Amino acid sequence: MIGDLLVVEDVATEFAATVSRLYAESVDGCFRIALSGGKTAGDCYAALAADAQSGVDWSKVSFFWGDERCVSLDNEASNFHLAQEVLLSHLGPVGSVHPMRCEDGPNMYDRLLRSTPPLNVVHLGLGPDGHTASLFPGSEALESGVDTLVAMNVDPLGTNPHERMTLTFAGIERADHVVITVAGADKSNALARVMAGDQSAPAARLRGAHVLWIVDQAALGQSVSR
Ligand code: 6PG
Repeated sequence: MIGDLLVVEDVATEFAATVSRLYAESVDGCFRIALSGGKTAGDCYAALAADAQSGVDWSKVSFFWGDERCVSLDNEASNFHLAQEVLLSHLGPVGSVHPMRCEDGPNMYDRLLRSTPPLNVVHLGLGPDGHTASLFPGSEALESGVDTLVAMNVDPLGTNPHERMTLTFAGIERADHVVITVAGADKSNALARVMAGDQSAPAARLRGAHVLWIVDQAALGQSVSR
């Protein structure tokens, strides 16, 4: 596993505090974050929305996505819809919002990312199968080249539904901070594989200038105590 491991009681609360800290450290007054999907991310964004002491000027924050399902943005399965419901709709004016749109193809989002300074944060989750973003075990996007920041992808095993648009490892690595939140005993097997460096778990291949794993004891499992 590459990066720092932070074991906490409440992953969502720690995530919100981490965003607040990284925002305070950002130097150009603007802050760019790529959001994730999934239940853990939803809990994290609810905590962020509820953090009245975050100190974040949301009008200076630009929102991107690390991956998206190829459904309409108002579909319950959409990661944009998740963020809109639990975070964006609670923040008032924000800097800018850049949903991934599968119909535009990956190259447009790739160009968008290259037209802005690197993301301050990419927020990711961990699937029980070891995937992160929409980088699934055995999927084509795992082998995207270093010059490809965004790709279309599907789960070859069909466990994770919908065609996807996703940041590639190169797209993720380009960010200043990669923050992965992992909560619950159902992730203990995947996290153990990542920590053992099992490269068949895509999340084990995450790299970046600053990688922070925020996990709870349940996800860490009984094998490793704090
Ligand atoms: C997605 C997510 C995905 C998610 C993990 C963890 O679009 O499905 O980006 O990578 O973060 O599957 O999801 P849970 O927190 O719901 O387990």
